[in-house]
Amino acid sequence: MKLNKNLVLIGMMGSGKSSIGKILSKKLEFEFIDTDSKIEEIEKKTISEIFKKNGEKYFRNIEEVISLKSLKLNNKVIALGGGGYINPTIRKYTLKKCISVWLDWKNETLISRVKNSNKRPLAMKMDNLELQTLIIKRSTMYNLSDYKINCDKLNKKQIVEKIINLYENS
Ligand code: S3P
Repeated sequence: MKLNKNLVLIGMMGSGKSSIGKILSKKLEFEFIDTDSKIEEIEKKTISEIFKKNGEKYFRNIEEVISLKSLKLNNKVIALGGGGYINPTIRKYTLKKCISVWLDWKNETLISRVKNSNKRPLAMKMDNLELQTLIIKRSTMYNLSDYKINCDKLNKKQIVEKIINLYENS
């Protein structure tokens, strides 16, 4: 089988990495890996439960192990957790071996999507200003990815088409 580079989706919580990733994986006929789902499967707990019972540091350690293991494969579409790409080891590996795409949205769009989501323990503790500060801080890291898509004016189909185009021509 031809070995193709992984296509890695990065971006904030609520940027659509999982839903876009699933569509991409069908189109490219690649397996889809959502690192958060893998962590939940292995730990037999939800992300919220892991944060609550074991703390963020514990979560970040597993996130690094699972993300690196996934990134080392080929022919996968991978959705990293919103904080995954902030980890320098994960980021370096992604940049070296994979094609990465940042799903970028206006701050207000992201904030309205993640606020009050009990699936997102990190966002739950933050007010709008704190979330905005986090988005701005992380954007400098996300901006290091191979490609950036401004998603606000696009529908899902257009986002997917753009990504496939970028991937196939890279
Ligand atoms: C996090 C994002 C979440 C999940 C965890 C921490 C973050 O993933 O990994 O709650 O630090 O941004 P999604 O981006 O898939 O929501």
